[in-house]
Amino acid sequence: CSFLREKDRKTICEILVNGLARQEYRGYDSAGIGIDGDKPGEMFFFKEVGKVAGLRKKIAESNVDTTKTFLSQVSIAHTRWATHGPPSVANCHPLKSDPKAEFTVVHNGIVTNAAALRLVLQKRGFTFESDTDTEAVAILTKYIYDSQPDKRMSLTELVKTVLKELEGSFAFVFKSSHYPNEVVTARRGSPLLIGVKTEKKLKVDFVDVEFAGPETENIDSLAAPTSPTGLLAPPSSGPNLLRSQSRAFMSEDGLPQPIEFFVASDASAIIEHTKRVLYLEDDDIAHIAEGELHIHRLRRNEDGRPETASHRTIETLELELAEIMKGKFDHFMQKEIYEQPESVVNTMRGRVNFDRNQITLGGLRAYLPIIRRGRRIVFCACGTSYHSAIATRAIFEELTEIPVSVELASDFLDRKTPIFRDDVCVFVSQSGETADTILALRYCLERGALCVGVVNTVGSTISRETHCGVHINAGPEIGVASTKAYTSQYIALLMMALQLSEDRISLTERRTQIIEGLHQLPGHIRQVLESDKSFQDLATGMLANQRSLLLMGRGYQYATCLEGALKIKEISYMHSEGILAGELKHGPLALIDENMPVIIVMTQDSLYPKVQSAYAQITARKAQPIVICNEGDEGIPKDVKTIRVPKSVDCLQGIVNIIPLQLLSYHLAVKNGFDVDFPRNLAKSVTTE
Ligand code: G6P
Repeated sequence: CSFLREKDRKTICEILVNGLARQEYRGYDSAGIGIDGDKPGEMFFFKEVGKVAGLRKKIAESNVDTTKTFLSQVSIAHTRWATHGPPSVANCHPLKSDPKAEFTVVHNGIVTNAAALRLVLQKRGFTFESDTDTEAVAILTKYIYDSQPDKRMSLTELVKTVLKELEGSFAFVFKSSHYPNEVVTARRGSPLLIGVKTEKKLKVDFVDVEFAGPETENIDSLAAPTSPTGLLAPPSSGPNLLRSQSRAFMSEDGLPQPIEFFVASDASAIIEHTKRVLYLEDDDIAHIAEGELHIHRLRRNEDGRPETASHRTIETLELELAEIMKGKFDHFMQKEIYEQPESVVNTMRGRVNFDRNQITLGGLRAYLPIIRRGRRIVFCACGTSYHSAIATRAIFEELTEIPVSVELASDFLDRKTPIFRDDVCVFVSQSGETADTILALRYCLERGALCVGVVNTVGSTISRETHCGVHINAGPEIGVASTKAYTSQYIALLMMALQLSEDRISLTERRTQIIEGLHQLPGHIRQVLESDKSFQDLATGMLANQRSLLLMGRGYQYATCLEGALKIKEISYMHSEGILAGELKHGPLALIDENMPVIIVMTQDSLYPKVQSAYAQITARKAQPIVICNEGDEGIPKDVKTIRVPKSVDCLQGIVNIIPLQLLSYHLAVKNGFDVDFPRNLAKSVTTE
């Protein structure tokens, strides 16, 4: 954060640590802050491994003068999800270029040429205190700064020069003792937004993006291909030609005003301070100083103009603080599971007309003819989002009669899958920031396919870079294990299929049946939630102390099994596998004996008889499965343990069926004392490949 307003150090630390706590779900194996010290140019650092609460305690116990006030200052903070080097205080951000912290950096993402940079810098006499890629960036900045005899480069120019040496993905914040009260932030591949807090109304609600004058030759020459990094040709000096044309912040009366800027990768970190934000694009470099914000571009077109000679709009977020608080629940995951009767309604709100059996997804309307003409639809996603695509593939194919393939984004890229101009590619992502999915999206954009986003986070990279799309409107999801986003993605995809098939008279009856099913869905989910105690009993009884759990089903319920198994392994660390019941006899049956715990999903649809035979095959081998079945199903023997759920339409039943499995995984984790919202080694938003 950067202020042009009087603040004491205690308040500054609180703002930073609270912001980190709200972003903790993104990555959380260590946390740190860097604040201005007592003397000019001095910095104080606080770092701690583990949760943000540990960092908070460390700051509280320190003897730093918390009453010291600042009229203008810049401080930085970070929660880390380890990529280069294990979680440790040494590897914790902010990372500095040298003991005096001439340059201090926090970074989200991975610099893939960090090893080469390190080698070059080590050869030049620099020493490293951490294993991180980020420290190489801080030291590189100092190296470039020191290499100019007259030290006339602005901080923006300096950062621009540094960024040209970097490969990989990043969101950075740079601070320097040579540029007091200035901060530069930049992104390529990782999310970044800037919150603006003022008391008066702003004169403008956008910030111009301007390339701010020609660059000096000597700076460009740094990137010359004389070494992998270009570092072997250090710059001489050059005049500072950076004259920004960007618009400064002024109040409507034209007078300067106290102003605060907050840079974050996620709106939840800053929502308690301001709802006014602007999202940076890839290759944007933002400079904040003296109450002004200027945005520059890293690259230019061949004619020397900035790639994007436009502006970044300051948007007003609709997010409420209460939405990112736990309220009466013990965990975010529990809250989010319980929110589903409302979140599914929010996904449908204004889009489903129950009286006229009509679906209107405004974001897709103009593109419907192109989608209908597409030769195939390719869903691309990771994790839970991938499962929502698997769950809706069959209904998509049935309603649209367009072939659908479902791809894991990483594998899709590994295979360099052929993509053509008449393909329709749908990118499903809760966060809209998953690196693999973003890379797959860019791959498809380059090949001219129509790219559609199905995203929860408004303003996210995927929602901005796709041609069109649907926001699932599930509200912020904080728990690392995705729950309400799954059910909302499921509905959003289903609505897409319904809208695409609206002109098909032969499907009227089927569509009416599904839309009626959507109407009943919130009630069905509520009904399952009421049985929560029985799922808790399963977790503390039959399934307690088990090491493994198999989930079986077929057709629509295959996705339920995959997603249920993912939930269980993610947060309860129990080995769990989703098995397509049709594949049982091709391998998994060998695992079955009287000791292997099995859940079989046997709700009534056209495949019911086939699942019954799978049930017979496993019970013949002494398995004692727990059966997820519909209320009133008399076909299940009385002594069998059942989870009874209300009957829905076949293609919606998966939404009802996943709720008991979400709750079961939750209770298994709670029973074992695991950190439900922050499972080990996982992050909510995986912004690295
Ligand atoms: C991570 C999360 C999962 C999530 C997946 C895809 O692995 O831990 O919960 O399903 O990323 O995330 P996305 O935001 O693209 O849906």
